[in-house]
Amino acid sequence: MKILHIDCSIRDERSLSKELSALFVTKLTEKFPTAQLDYLDVSKETPSHPSALFIRGNYTPETERSSEMVIELAESELLVDRMILADLYVIGMPMYNFSVPSNFKAFIDNVVRINRTFKLTEAGGEGLLVNKRVYIINTRGVDFTHGDIQHMDQLQPYLTAIFGFIGLTDLTFINVSPVQFAAVEAREGAIERAKTEILNLIKAL
Ligand SMILES: Cc1cc2nc3c(=O)[nH]c(=O)nc-3n(C[C@H](O)[C@H](O)[C@H](O)COP(=O)(O)O)c2cc1C
Repeated sequence: MKILHIDCSIRDERSLSKELSALFVTKLTEKFPTAQLDYLDVSKETPSHPSALFIRGNYTPETERSSEMVIELAESELLVDRMILADLYVIGMPMYNFSVPSNFKAFIDNVVRINRTFKLTEAGGEGLLVNKRVYIINTRGVDFTHGDIQHMDQLQPYLTAIFGFIGLTDLTFINVSPVQFAAVEAREGAIERAKTEILNLIKAL
């Protein structure tokens, strides 16, 4: 098994999403000791935003790209390779302003690549990252799962759509909320529930 572990919180030792994604990966590698692990913290190694040259290169057939295009796409190619190699992703994902952190959006813009992670057919887009599982540990200050703020959650619908577009349809969201602006007991309860869910998910693997 090849695991790609991605974090994107801008915090380190105080980050709950990083703590819980690390717990997930630790327990997973205890269960599968021969698993290979790749780690990427996009808050530290934030992928470059795509440029006009990147876009032109992306839509130019590989054999016809200029050397400038090849250089411009090099970072993205490496990220795509890491996505292709892994068969299970564990992602520590805080909600920022109702959606994903901007560093993770930059990552998405680098890995949604024509003929690498999706192709266009007469029927529309077809995802190429198939047979992979994705576990998303999503920490949120506020609980958006019910009530009249539900529609403000632009994170889970967005990730479901964009990951689905590149073939990642086996998604499990571990919703850790409320962890801020909430009573201590509510935060602790959310964290305990998430830890139990993580252990149960790994047991079931
Ligand atoms: C820039 C920023 C924006 C945030 N926006 C939201 C938000 O829209 N909704 C929410 O529920 N929590 C929001 N939060 C709270 C975080 O989602 C929450 O504290 C989370 O635990 C942070 O993850 P971390 O502990 O891994 O850093 C925001 C936090 C930051 C730093």
